[in-house]
Amino acid sequence: MTTSPLAELSAHAASLLARIDEVTTLAELTQQEPHIVGKRSILSALQKSLGGLAPEERKAAGAQLQEVRRRIDEAFAARRGVLEALARAQALEADRLDLGDVVVTQVRVPLAAGHPGIVAATQRQLEDVFVAMGFVVADGPEVESDWYNFEALNIPPAHPARGMWDTFYVDLGEPETVVLRTHTSPTQIHLMERAVLEGALPIHSVMPGRCYRRDTPDARHLAAFHQIEGLVVDRGIAFADLAGVIETFTHAYFGPDISSRLRPAYFPFTEPSAEFEITCTICRGQGCRTCSQTGWIELGGCGMLDPAVLEAVGVDGDEWSGFAFGFGIDRCAQMRHQIADMRALIDNDVRFLRQFS
Ligand code: DAH
Repeated sequence: MTTSPLAELSAHAASLLARIDEVTTLAELTQQEPHIVGKRSILSALQKSLGGLAPEERKAAGAQLQEVRRRIDEAFAARRGVLEALARAQALEADRLDLGDVVVTQVRVPLAAGHPGIVAATQRQLEDVFVAMGFVVADGPEVESDWYNFEALNIPPAHPARGMWDTFYVDLGEPETVVLRTHTSPTQIHLMERAVLEGALPIHSVMPGRCYRRDTPDARHLAAFHQIEGLVVDRGIAFADLAGVIETFTHAYFGPDISSRLRPAYFPFTEPSAEFEITCTICRGQGCRTCSQTGWIELGGCGMLDPAVLEAVGVDGDEWSGFAFGFGIDRCAQMRHQIADMRALIDNDVRFLRQFS
């Protein structure tokens, strides 16, 4: 009688299971795979040897071998699972250490502190200049009704002057009744209304803030931009007071060699109205491409309050008179820092922003 090739099967199984248990890394497991469950394993050799058995014996031995194979495969797969989980945990640990490294780096080289953007900084400087001249800073809403943005400013519906402001409408209430303010002038209306209600005239205020127009952005325009509005309502105010405020502001903000001039213009809410220009800061008045060789750059508009506006807010025009002005904050920043293209203000390119820290 020949000994069955499977006589030592359980001993082989025990040794294979022990080998599986001894493997401690995925790489080692992969390397051992052919010897434990693959073609080079003792189980494959035994499988081949079954060929020499009588059919009856072969069937029984085959079943026995199959069962052992199943157990070994199972143990092998389980070990792979454990080692994979271990490898993942180790990778996470390595990542955690990486993060730790970054933190340590930041402690050694602190991140630079942020600073106000050029537009915000310009707004503050402009406020400071006007506060020093005796003005109070006020603000108003960016979403306005048609009445505040246009009608109370003597711009009735369908008035041709509406073409001066390409308007974004807000989808609220009746069509075209709610707008993103196209200028800071509606804040004048809020201030005068409140002052009348509270008996708090006179007014000497400036009102900075964001405005919106349906303009295609270019080197000198943005669709969302900033203006600062000025309003004086007092007794005996004359055009000369307006001109004096503009000139004082221009010297204080741009420097003694930059002056202002007023040129006749039209705005529905002021009468007379003027455009206010300053010496071109690029060529200092010599004439260049930026100022179209005139030596002057337009900054904003101004004028004496139109009686229709005083009436709309209930200010007694026999007792009070006043002036207003409004100009672009972004334009001031552009002029003072000689920024060729205003779109740089909204690009958020740190190489640009860092120059103004
Ligand atoms: N709101 C005008 C604009 O954005 C500028 C302006 C002109 C403001 C005359 C005023 C003013 O207060 O009196 O085009």
